[in-house]
Amino acid sequence: MKFFVDTASLDAIHEAHDMGVLDGVTTNPSLVKKEGNVDFHKRVFEICEVVDGDVSAEVTATDFNGMMEEAHTLANIHENVVVKIPLIKEGIKALKALSDEGIRTNCTLCFSPTQALIAAKAGASYISPFIGRVDDISSNGMQLIEEVIQIYDNYGFETEVLAASIRHPMHVKEAALAGADVATMPFETMTKLLDHPLTDRGLERFLDDWEDYKASRKAEAGMAG
Ligand code: G3P
Repeated sequence: MKFFVDTASLDAIHEAHDMGVLDGVTTNPSLVKKEGNVDFHKRVFEICEVVDGDVSAEVTATDFNGMMEEAHTLANIHENVVVKIPLIKEGIKALKALSDEGIRTNCTLCFSPTQALIAAKAGASYISPFIGRVDDISSNGMQLIEEVIQIYDNYGFETEVLAASIRHPMHVKEAALAGADVATMPFETMTKLLDHPLTDRGLERFLDDWEDYKASRKAEAGMAG
């Protein structure tokens, strides 16, 4: 499973990259807004210079021509850029045209298996089902992931399933069990994957015992001398 960090924060991206397990980055207009007064295209370039992997950057036009123009600008920023396209009718047209041009795409705002099916038919490189937001409306985000994977497997679609809107480690675990190709998550969630009280307690005991061992070795050496 590939791990992407879901942020436009360079600090978070550096931290995730330093852990050595980062495969890519996803951004969206809301995440860019959180960063305050940054130049979007410059920020996309900076992220690509840090991460040796796919970096999703989203168009904001909602018509075909506007999406294509923005997609070309974004794709020209860096070879790592994957253009994020919303799952609407004009977006499907753009996915197909970009796929024909060899520009990689991430189809975003996916909330149903039939949306995922049409995005794959249009040649999307990634599909992003938003599992947290599905859970938010008392529906089952993980079932969506499972159904999309099943449909893609049935027909051999190469579109990668990118579990998005991940909120906590259980989402990551269940997406991995379902076989999602990618999990994109906030950096805080990535670090939470490590948390276990038995690891902390076990390490504390090992280190205490090691101190006792060293002290007894020192005492024995003193008696022998
Ligand atoms: O990857 C999509 C993500 O940024 C949306 O997350 O938590 O706003 O639903 P959230």
